[in-house]
Amino acid sequence: MPVSADGTHSRLEARIMPAVLHASIVRHASEETNPVRLNEDTLKAGVDTYKAMCARCHSTPDGEASVYGQSFYPPAPKLPEGMSQYTDSQLFWVIKHGIRNTGMPGWGSMLSDEEIWQVVSLLKNSLDLPPSVEAEWSTSKAKSAK
Ligand code: HEC
Repeated sequence: MPVSADGTHSRLEARIMPAVLHASIVRHASEETNPVRLNEDTLKAGVDTYKAMCARCHSTPDGEASVYGQSFYPPAPKLPEGMSQYTDSQLFWVIKHGIRNTGMPGWGSMLSDEEIWQVVSLLKNSLDLPPSVEAEWSTSKAKSAK
């Protein structure tokens, strides 16, 4: 059984694990709607938390993939703009609880629910940000591009 983190992903793992992960998230998440009000302050708070806690592994949609994030097994993916594969509550669930046996921590002990919902708002709306928020998000792109 290989235990190194720098081995290549088997094709089976690469095909099966993302589907298993997605199915588990869908099964566990509630149907809750995002309780934070969608406005510039919420989105800016989401950018701040993302820059401080997430970008070092996931980079930002326009930034280059993080070498640190790519060094996990499985690697930390770049999170696609809009995160259309998950609903708000599914995204909240995976961020709060993390992903077992991977580098993805459960953030529930480090971030408040409100902070997690703010990040969810940012990620779900990243294709349609007000200019002032887009400016801060773009700065984070430049900063995390290594
Ligand atoms: C120390 C590195 C690290 C940090 C920091 C980190 N993550 Fe992750 N994250 C990962 C890894 C590794 C995976 C991939 C796990 C897998 O493929 O099973 C992941 C997966 C995810 C996924 C699932 C992606 C998908 O397509 O299913 C989401 C969403 C996510 N992270 C959001 C976040 C957010 C938001 C933050 C900041 C609050 C964050 N992560 C911080 C390492 C990290």
